[in-house]
Amino acid sequence: MSAPEPPVTIPGARLLFSIDPGVSYLNHGSFGAVPIGVQRAQQRLRDEIESNPLRFFAQGLSDRVIHTRRHLASFLGADPELSALVPNTTTAVSLVLNSIKLEPADEVLLSDHSYGAVAMAARRRCRRSGATVRTVALPMPATDAELVSRVRAALRPGRTKLLIIDQLSSATAMAFPVREIVAAAHEHDIPVLVDAAHVPGMLPVEVASIRADFWVGNLHKWAFAPRGTALLSVAPEWRRRIEPLVVSWDQDQGYPHAVESQGTIDYTPWLAAPTGLFTLRSLGWDEVRTHNAALAAYGQRVVAEALEVPADELPWPSVPGVSMRIVPLPAGLATTMPEAHALREHIAGKLAVETAVNAWGGRGLLRLSAQVYNRAEEYDRFAERLPALLHDYRA
Ligand SMILES: Cc1ncc(COP(=O)(O)O)c(C=O)c1O
Repeated sequence: MSAPEPPVTIPGARLLFSIDPGVSYLNHGSFGAVPIGVQRAQQRLRDEIESNPLRFFAQGLSDRVIHTRRHLASFLGADPELSALVPNTTTAVSLVLNSIKLEPADEVLLSDHSYGAVAMAARRRCRRSGATVRTVALPMPATDAELVSRVRAALRPGRTKLLIIDQLSSATAMAFPVREIVAAAHEHDIPVLVDAAHVPGMLPVEVASIRADFWVGNLHKWAFAPRGTALLSVAPEWRRRIEPLVVSWDQDQGYPHAVESQGTIDYTPWLAAPTGLFTLRSLGWDEVRTHNAALAAYGQRVVAEALEVPADELPWPSVPGVSMRIVPLPAGLATTMPEAHALREHIAGKLAVETAVNAWGGRGLLRLSAQVYNRAEEYDRFAERLPALLHDYRA
């Protein structure tokens, strides 16, 4: 097997970021990286606040939040009146779980690709109401038809009160046919929450057309927003049923305002988020997407080659534009999450390479991200040094 050609770099893009030049930062997916221009925009907002905090909070803040929400919702193809700015996907998941009714015989259905903290939130919510969390196993790789049919077979009409499905999963970087899965669940009136944490800025999306009951995506991963920026979008019939997690002055105004107005919090990430979209558009979003997906594919192939993973064992995304790729680690390595974290730290400490390592289905999975600040040489260097590091690590 030989690696595909790496993409041509986007001129000047690397200079837009503060990434430590001594580190190969191959993990954009976990916490994003905020362009310097966006950092500056946020700092200007902070300066504005400190020049007169009362004026900032008491005059026009809600109009600015609405304006920002409209901007971000329109980028994602979501209805701004059915959308709310929230700090992150984690918060949105708890908001949704808190707003559904669960009786002891009910269940929340997840997949074995669901994000760990999302599963934890579902378990806590179910524990409190005596309901259960059930997990459907979905193979990797799988065709869209297989995924839809497995999910369909796992639904228990009358008992399943919520299905939570990823649009792009974290540990396995797999894209799911969410529109078809939502349609299958709706045949039985089962509501669906789509966890699209990685989607904004990575994949083109028209949220309204997915017709999910709830959809949430982070803008602080791939859309260059400051951390603390996500958008929750709900179907019209849920609008009145969404209860804010924190009761504040504006709670009687209902969704979305009651969800966005949470006392004295830092609104600067939201207000600076459009500058992130501006950066993305200035670079050319199509170019960014094409570059990142091609570089992630290149990184996957060179690292897989170095670890002697056959090409036909490499998970391959079913949609274009996916900028995170998986390389399965040798059997026996990182088979639990504590082991995966320890290995990730070891790699970072010894090689100055930041990656994501996850344990999934008893197998260690290395996840490589690609962003405009990355270069093919970073993956080449990592591929050269990783086999020896893993050999010594196991010894
Ligand atoms: C699929 C998925 N869901 C949820 C989350 C949680 O996102 P946040 O930490 O921004 O709440 C992540 C974070 O990586 C994720 O990958």
